[in-house]
Amino acid sequence: MLKISLAFLSMIRTVANWKLNGSRTFCKQWFKDFTSHFSGDLSSIAVAPPAIYIPLCTELSAHQINICAQNLDSLDGEARTGEISLEMLQDLNCNLSIIGHSERRHLFGETSNMIRDKLLKAAKPDFNAIYCIGENLADYEAKLSFEAITEQLNSELLSLSKNINLFVAYEPIWAIGSGKLPSKNEIELMHLHIKDLLLQHKHINLLGIFYGGSVTEHNCIELSQSDAIDGFLVGGASLSGKSFAKIASSFT
Ligand code: PGA
Repeated sequence: MLKISLAFLSMIRTVANWKLNGSRTFCKQWFKDFTSHFSGDLSSIAVAPPAIYIPLCTELSAHQINICAQNLDSLDGEARTGEISLEMLQDLNCNLSIIGHSERRHLFGETSNMIRDKLLKAAKPDFNAIYCIGENLADYEAKLSFEAITEQLNSELLSLSKNINLFVAYEPIWAIGSGKLPSKNEIELMHLHIKDLLLQHKHINLLGIFYGGSVTEHNCIELSQSDAIDGFLVGGASLSGKSFAKIASSFT
């Protein structure tokens, strides 16, 4: 039931996160490979290239596939060398960004306060965030995953005072790039927990809950059949346009 009502609000189901991969040649080949192996609705797809390739990918996608930023800064027009603002993304017609990916948190020192500021920045009627959360291995092994996720949501999202449109990507840190996944049942229980918490907050327009972490063309079929999983955020397996097309096809 919930899945049906969310589907009305947004069509995005499968997001490719290329991380620090790509070149002009790669982008051209990727869109060729993807479009020749995917026959579903292109508006259900989002691609997050490195920011420098956003204009090229927008052109290659013929404006039919959503192009997503991997990150944004919470400020604009300040002395902040190397950052990209939401205003700059919107200037390129890019109205979607990943926020709080675990690599930003762990490799680049993004704190919960910084992620909260980014979510606050993204809280605009014409912008959508893909907000990433996930527990670490120690919490998973100690059966503290629910506590860890609740704490992240409380400190970063639930206390915001502005209306925000967002997808949540549940990405256990230990599952990213490791080939290890939680069971389907564990993912479902966590997604339901997140939905329950978020639906109590009127300022949050929840567009869907994605699973991310070692999704491949082999494990996607079983997961995509779950009513609790609205979509996927895919890293490694998204680098092949053909593999990503197979994963995206699991939702068609
Ligand atoms: P992965 O990455 O699919 O390579 O595990 C997912 C992510 O980091 O979003």
